[in-house]
Amino acid sequence: MASGPLIWLLHGPNLNMLGMREPDIYGAQTLESINTQSMSLAEALGLRLEHFQSNHEGELVDRIQLALSQKVQGFVINPAAVTHTSVALRDALAAVALPFVEVHLSNIHRREPFRSHSYFSDKAEAVVCGMGPLGYEAAIRFFHGHLLKPMTPSR
Ligand code: DQA
Repeated sequence: MASGPLIWLLHGPNLNMLGMREPDIYGAQTLESINTQSMSLAEALGLRLEHFQSNHEGELVDRIQLALSQKVQGFVINPAAVTHTSVALRDALAAVALPFVEVHLSNIHRREPFRSHSYFSDKAEAVVCGMGPLGYEAAIRFFHGHLLKPMTPSR
């Protein structure tokens, strides 16, 4: 059975369309492939990673609220479009008070001005943007190296 600290990889609206969605901006890799690579890396590092994507803000809020009862240690999250709009998601992350790393495939600071503002970055442990799928790898490695609390031994 898988063991090790549990991290949730959360993806916001439209990221289910990666691969076919504006490939000049977001690249050719599908979300499924990003998830598979992220799971393999996590496993190699001794982490458990579970992924979730939703096009609905409220579902992302619900999922974040579940994290405490599921003993999640933190999140790697690409909030996608709701990065620039969602007080609700920001408040959910504040409510559960777990560390998170914010990831964007594209460099949001080099695009339309409205994308430069994130409702998450000032609360994030780290922000990665513009590195494409490599950003997820960096975030998982950073989590592994810097953000995990020592596990309480189970009896
Ligand atoms: C994104 C950037 C957002 O501005 C956009 O709405 C997305 C994806 C990124 O990964 O580059 O959907 O978060």
